[in-house]
Amino acid sequence: MAMKRISIFLLLVSALSSCSDGPVQPDREKDSVYTRKADSVLGLMTLEEKIGQTVLFTSGWDVTGPSMDPNYKTYLKNGNVGAVFNAFTTEYNRELQRIAVEETRLGIPLMFGYDVIHGHRTIFPIPLGESASWDLDLMEKTARIAAVEASAEGINWTFAPMVDVARDARWGRIAEGAGEDTYLGSLIAVARVKGFQGDDLSASNTILACAKHYAAYGAAMAGRDYNTVDMSENELRTTYLPPFKAALDAGVATFMNSFNDLNGVPATGNSFLLRDILKGEWDFDGFVVTDYTSINEMVPHGYARDEKHAGEIAMNAGVDMDMQGGIYMKYLKASIEEGKVEESDLDDAVRRILEMKFRLGLFDDPYHYLDADREKELVLNDEHLEVARDAARKSMVLLKNDNAVLPLSEDKKVALIGPLVKDEKNIIGNWAAAGDRNGTAVSVYEAFEARFGKEDLLFAEGCKVLGDDTSGFDEAVAAARKADVVVMVLGELEGMTGEAASRTDINLPGKQKALIAAVKATGKPVVLVLMNGRPLSLEWENDTADAIVEAWWPGTMGGHAVADVLYGDYNPSGKLTVSFPRTVGQLPLFYNHKNTGRPIPPDDPDQKYVSRYLYTPNTPLYPFGYGLSYTSYSYNATADKKTITPSDTLEVTVKVTNMGERDGEEVVQLYLRDKVASVTPPVRSLKRFEKVAVKKGQTRELTFRLTADDLKFYNEDLEFVHEPGVFELFVGANSDCPLVHTFELVEE
Ligand code: GLC
Repeated sequence: MAMKRISIFLLLVSALSSCSDGPVQPDREKDSVYTRKADSVLGLMTLEEKIGQTVLFTSGWDVTGPSMDPNYKTYLKNGNVGAVFNAFTTEYNRELQRIAVEETRLGIPLMFGYDVIHGHRTIFPIPLGESASWDLDLMEKTARIAAVEASAEGINWTFAPMVDVARDARWGRIAEGAGEDTYLGSLIAVARVKGFQGDDLSASNTILACAKHYAAYGAAMAGRDYNTVDMSENELRTTYLPPFKAALDAGVATFMNSFNDLNGVPATGNSFLLRDILKGEWDFDGFVVTDYTSINEMVPHGYARDEKHAGEIAMNAGVDMDMQGGIYMKYLKASIEEGKVEESDLDDAVRRILEMKFRLGLFDDPYHYLDADREKELVLNDEHLEVARDAARKSMVLLKNDNAVLPLSEDKKVALIGPLVKDEKNIIGNWAAAGDRNGTAVSVYEAFEARFGKEDLLFAEGCKVLGDDTSGFDEAVAAARKADVVVMVLGELEGMTGEAASRTDINLPGKQKALIAAVKATGKPVVLVLMNGRPLSLEWENDTADAIVEAWWPGTMGGHAVADVLYGDYNPSGKLTVSFPRTVGQLPLFYNHKNTGRPIPPDDPDQKYVSRYLYTPNTPLYPFGYGLSYTSYSYNATADKKTITPSDTLEVTVKVTNMGERDGEEVVQLYLRDKVASVTPPVRSLKRFEKVAVKKGQTRELTFRLTADDLKFYNEDLEFVHEPGVFELFVGANSDCPLVHTFELVEE
């Protein structure tokens, strides 16, 4: 039997090498050699084999790592599975690939997917943290390293980047994305796609990327995961779709639909999203995978009568691959035979999947991602760890620094206090893939020990992240009393953000605030280092601590990066990509909000009958784009025109001067406000930024160029247009930056 299969595979390969006369589908890229190759294979497949390619199953886990459910191996041998996820290491994946290639009739190779979200073995800061670096080259680089390590362990597809715009800190998955801004999120999506996919998908160190979760998952009502999403198409196209389109324009190979329903139709069965926009308007030629059992979930959504009906809705809506649901495997054959699904739609799905397997080079060599030598040489190597340390430093945001308590001087005695001082598990954050939580990551304590030796270090845990036990407070207070300065490392547990981790209260959990109060009562300067995956409500901490560093979950080299920042080896340059509210009651909160008809008048801030809360300001505690430095910068911005036509370019020249004694990096931001439009405009929107190194005393000059294209918006008819009128231009260090120029767009 094996000989028969191999002969068919060889026949297949020879057929493909020519493929000059393979059937080319009328509605697809004529010149794509991959389409022709895929069609050649498609022409050989039975209905069951086609359906098999649309099936994605998870590997299991046992104490030694990934393990395949015995049933899945049977499915594999029968050609009923096209891809496996959560499977890695060359040894394990080689066996699964061998079964697919040598024991099935056509020997079509498997793809191996995994959630390589912010690193594979070397773990970088969580994506929300990394986005605070505003360093697109860095984010491309970390995605590249993630792909190198993942592909070295047999993975050729990652379920990343997550490109969901998120404006509600109650939603735990805000940790996985690039924050609240569409423009910045779009650029970061491109950087991450390019990093994962490189410029040659057939190379052994590049992997398919996946733009997820399509679409508007971040707008889940009340910040509760998986919850309903309902919004105008204008808001969808203005805020939530652009990062997906940017990823597509960057060549992203796959999309993942989201769990949520959108305007009453689950994304998994939403032909408006999938066929009209993604595969129609945007002409996407990759494939769409569901989220985990999201086809099945159309039954509890109340949108499908039963699982078979759900499968028909999904395939008809344009879903190409079923993640873990088993629905396509169980019901698609019958649905096609009953005429509920067109076989041509299945063919299109299978063609898209096969094309990606060809692009990955898996038909040329199904084992080229399975190289044990690469695995040994590339995973967690020194170069990767150094990049991880650099990414962590550049992601950290200095939120407060009264009396220049930071940077610390090495002659000061430090007490390290808090439940996350010695942490090496949560520090790599959620969705940490194959990251190790038992000793590989560097805790803050380890980093200080490496700098100063053990004998000089004062440490007290004080309390846990969660729980009401305060029995450790006395020890913490005693340690503080012996020190010149206290560094407290506090925050959330990594499982308190990420999937299925929404919170109704975004304060520091447990007794951590009480611990801060007890330590602060000693009168010693207190530096808070926060490790968390979402904006927290920090008004009291902001009033109490002398300095606050937002470290997010900084990854494998997090401890060293914290020390580098605290001691000024690196001058912090991070800027928030999400607004930090004063209180959870302000959520959702974002800088590019509308003005309303009753804004709070600047000259009468206490006016009652305006859009406000009774006892809380509308403003965030820390705004989008905010982050301090150990130096300070002055700005001077000018623009070259007071009036532009649609064919003009407005040149904005910005001079940034480092006024302090330390070299630094500054994220120069440019925002625009359309004063009057046929759809109410936001009070401002980020349109340009540049991160520049500015040495002490140096002045850097930047030029930003804007055209009428930058002034476009979706009008009431959903046309993407610019309209004549007055625009305000703001330039500076965060989204509260001052007005620097006003200009008018006039008709030609
Ligand atoms: C999860 C997540 C998705 C992830 C997938 C596979 O439910 O929603 O982001 O890629 O399942 O793990």
